[in-house]
Amino acid sequence: MKFTFLNLAAAGLVAAASGPPAGRPAGFKWKSTGPLIGPKDDERKTAGIKDPTVIEINGTYHVFASTARDQGNDSYSLVYINFTDFDKANEAPHHYLDQSGIGKGYRAAPEVFWHAPHKLWYLIFQNGNAAYSTNPKIDDPAGWTAPKNFYAAKPAIVTENIGAGYWVDMWVICDATHCHLFSSDDNGHLYRSETTLADFPAGMSDPVIDLEDANRYALFEAACVYRVGEGRYMLLIEAIGTDEKRYFRSWTSASIRGPWTALADSEENPFARANNVEFEGTPWTKSISHGEVIRVHTAEKPADQNLDIDTSKPLRFLYQGLDPEKDSGSYNALPWRLALLTQVTGA
Ligand SMILES: *[C@@H]1O[C@H](CO)[C@@H](O)[C@H](O)[C@H]1NC(C)=O
Ligand SMILES: *[C@@H]1O[C@H](CO)[C@@H](O)[C@H](O)[C@H]1NC(C)=O
Ligand SMILES: *[C@@H]1O[C@H](CO)[C@@H](O)[C@H](O)[C@H]1NC(C)=O
Repeated sequence: MKFTFLNLAAAGLVAAASGPPAGRPAGFKWKSTGPLIGPKDDERKTAGIKDPTVIEINGTYHVFASTARDQGNDSYSLVYINFTDFDKANEAPHHYLDQSGIGKGYRAAPEVFWHAPHKLWYLIFQNGNAAYSTNPKIDDPAGWTAPKNFYAAKPAIVTENIGAGYWVDMWVICDATHCHLFSSDDNGHLYRSETTLADFPAGMSDPVIDLEDANRYALFEAACVYRVGEGRYMLLIEAIGTDEKRYFRSWTSASIRGPWTALADSEENPFARANNVEFEGTPWTKSISHGEVIRVHTAEKPADQNLDIDTSKPLRFLYQGLDPEKDSGSYNALPWRLALLTQVTGA
């Protein structure tokens, strides 16, 4: 069966034989698993597994995530997990990356990608600044280097616009000539810096604001950007809805520099929100929070810094969710778990 995802077709992202019926908006639709990955019961007393980045290579899923607990400046660290079957993901060992060169201290919200020219895996994360660590082997958790920062200090434009927010969720994607570093401020701004592919990771420019919203909750955090075809990009950003629950909005552009055009960006027509996700039985979460589309790679389609996703196949989105009964109290102590959305054909 050939899937045609109508909202992507409508946006010109994929060539579809037939468009959406006149007058009927096409939309993303998903089905969700229950929680698949949670903390180990060990001396670390991790409360939540969060902020996953995921890549599938030769049939193995490699997931990097934040471990969160309510312990001040020792609240956030990174973990690596691999597995071949999501049904068995929760059995996979957790490799804590504070045991590698990444070291202890505040590190959160990773993104992993292969930089083909450097022949290195990069892990991008927040540590108060925007940081990276490298490793020639994705499955060697001890092999990560000490973090290095992209910026000398928090950029002035962030300080000027951040209000009561936090500077979070760094994301790198490259095109043929440049690498771009995105970040958010929990205050309605999407920032982007760039450097040349040849100079990366050095030389990041002062950020500019690529997207902003006077409603800070509409453009909150967890931005990710993918290439969805030659010269076509898709941007996802996490928002907080009128129901105070997390969901994802989406945009497209012909360039990583924008301008970004709405794809599915409202509560009624979201990228992923509880109202376009089908759960088995009672929904285990009302929040579709910080997540990533699974990038799929094989020997024929090796990974690189262009972050391609194939929209002719059902997208899969690994996200953090939360038992609605436990959605109160200290944010860092919330029991976030990872679960998987799989796209179903447009209505
Ligand atoms: C973390 O907080 C403790 C207690 O406030 C302090 O002693 C320590 O220096 C802090 N560590 C870092 C890395 O900031
Ligand atoms: C999964 O991780 C373990 C531990 O780092 C590693 O030894 C193993 O090679 C990895 N598996 C694959 C298929 O990458
Ligand atoms: C995937 O398989 C190809 C071909 O066997 C190999 O060259 C490549 O190193 C593998 N990638 C990883 C990350 O295991």
